Amino acid sequence: MILLGIETSCDETAAAVVENGRQILSNVVNSQIDIHARYGGVVPEVASRQHILSIIPVIDEALRQSKADWDDINAIATTCGPGLAGSLLVGANTAKAISYGRNLPLIGVNHLEGHIYANWLGEEEPEFPLLCLVVSGGHTDLILMKNHGDYTLLGKTRDDAAGEAFDKAARILGLGYPGGPAIDKAASSAKADLKLPRAWLKGTADFSFSGLKTALLRLNDAGEINNINNAAASFQEAVVDVLVRKTVNTAAKHGVAQILLSGGVAANSLLRQRIRDFSPVPVLIPPPVLCTDNAAMVAACGFFRIQSGNSSNIELDVEPSLAM
Ligand code: KG4
Ligand code: ZN
Repeated sequence: MILLGIETSCDETAAAVVENGRQILSNVVNSQIDIHARYGGVVPEVASRQHILSIIPVIDEALRQSKADWDDINAIATTCGPGLAGSLLVGANTAKAISYGRNLPLIGVNHLEGHIYANWLGEEEPEFPLLCLVVSGGHTDLILMKNHGDYTLLGKTRDDAAGEAFDKAARILGLGYPGGPAIDKAASSAKADLKLPRAWLKGTADFSFSGLKTALLRLNDAGEINNINNAAASFQEAVVDVLVRKTVNTAAKHGVAQILLSGGVAANSLLRQRIRDFSPVPVLIPPPVLCTDNAAMVAACGFFRIQSGNSSNIELDVEPSLAM
């Protein structure tokens, strides 16, 4: 079964063609980063207008690269939330139009569930029960997954998401937008020499990053940061330390077979290395291009949802605050 996936929840216009939820035939991502960078963050209205301009060329390119014909496509999967309302609408309405026009089954996909399914696009198939750490610009969730579609949210951030914390820290340090990749790069040959706090929230699987961000801001305002790269490394160390320890402890508590990482922050080089070093069970992490927003993950998730008997129709609506 071949699915066309569509993703427009934030600032990436993406389309992909995926076979049987696991094999990528094409994966096209048109990023708007250059457009939003001058504003220091995503401007929702600009994002939705840019999606309108890009969506058809991106879908055409995904089909061209996949070497599949429209007649080879068996279903359409599209992100329906969470995300920016105007951005989500462009992808969802395009998917509905194609589904109606070509009489193809349609499936709406939760963006976070999509991130998790990026792990099904690798050579090794994930094994249940598993613990997935979803770390993106808007979420930091620890999710126990016992089967396809069977999720238990064990922990989440009580304030800033991990990606949001990286973006804010980069802004404080003047490293630009998006902050995650900028901090990763600045930290690569630096020394974590600043003492920064960690919120452990003992006895829970929840996270908190706003105190850490404020601590960095205070040090910066007090003129106590002499080396930006070392400060970036210290901040990254503090975030990764908490993410890794809490994930590993939660995995042990629930006796899972594997740990999965997903979402944009899973592209972070220190996080990738540390979780592998400390996990008592095998760890799966998608390659960085499949950690950040893409449509292959949406097609993969859509396939398994269809396999489980789910479907959407022309009534499919977008849900900007959709939960897992
Ligand atoms: O999953 P994603 O592409 O979009 C959302 O669904 O939010 O995640 C974007 C987030 C941004 O906050 C970005 O700074 C962060 O992922 N990110 C990183 C890295 N690459 C992207 N954070 C840390 N290290 C990275 N290498
Ligand atoms: Zn995302």
